[in-house]
Amino acid sequence: MKELKSVETCNVSRRKMLLGTGALAAGVALSQVGGLIKSAEATGGKTEKWPWPYKKLDPAKTAEIAYNEWYRVFCGAAVINSVFTQLREKIGEPYASFPSDAFVFLEGGQVGWGTICGSPAGANIVANLIIGPRIDGAHAGHQIAQDIMQWYSETELPTFTPTKPRISATLPTTTSNSPLCHLSVGKWMKAADKSLKSKERKDRCARVAASTAYQLVTYLNEWKEGSYEATSDFSCSKENGITGQFNCTECHGDDVPEAPGA
Ligand code: HEC
Repeated sequence: MKELKSVETCNVSRRKMLLGTGALAAGVALSQVGGLIKSAEATGGKTEKWPWPYKKLDPAKTAEIAYNEWYRVFCGAAVINSVFTQLREKIGEPYASFPSDAFVFLEGGQVGWGTICGSPAGANIVANLIIGPRIDGAHAGHQIAQDIMQWYSETELPTFTPTKPRISATLPTTTSNSPLCHLSVGKWMKAADKSLKSKERKDRCARVAASTAYQLVTYLNEWKEGSYEATSDFSCSKENGITGQFNCTECHGDDVPEAPGA
């Protein structure tokens, strides 16, 4: 494996992040998001109820739900449902009418295109519905999403073993160094020597969804208690003038291009 570009090159200081200046660099994408938030405010946001209420959940129970839901609606919707089915019981609306199953399209890195893994994508949808919009720089929903991306990329997954696993054999764990489904599942398949269609690969992805749901609820509970502190200080766009990940050389080799204006 090629040497990874140091994470340091993509970092801003944690202090900056906590102050909210380490959020995505201003650019076309951000000004569009800003525009959207402003127009929602201009109409008073009265048609929207956002952010949504939260009550603390048991991470292990949530992970079990995600594991089982994976076999029905795959990774993204499984993570969303693992939290929202419980909040539907505990709180009711707006969770009761939220169509979580619509997010089945997150499977396979969005309809099989191998982009962002559905597990962090689903987790970030949940965190941002519960914590709300990013208006003045970074806030906890944005930071939890960043923490989820970094945790997912750096952790040997899966971390969670269900109480009643569908596969009795021990599954290998791998670090993806990326939130991309293609890299995450590909590295695991190589380590396990199992095909995409194998029972083992399916159970691995169900356990990754469960592991992500566990981590998400851990963050949300901390946030609810007021003890959450962001740990990710990743900001590639600020450092390199392009959105990206920390494993530049894994795709580019030693010749990492420089972005115009970087
Ligand atoms: C998952 C694979 C992947 C990763 C990780 C990745 N890149 Fe790229 N990047 C690409 C591909 C593919 C292109 C388009 C083809 C090309 O030009 O190499 C691209 C294009 C670019 C471009 C546009 C200019 C150009 O020459 O095409 C820049 C600048 C760039 N990458 C920088 C980076 C930096 C800096 C990092 C790490 C912080 C990074 N990339 C991480 C795959 C990746």
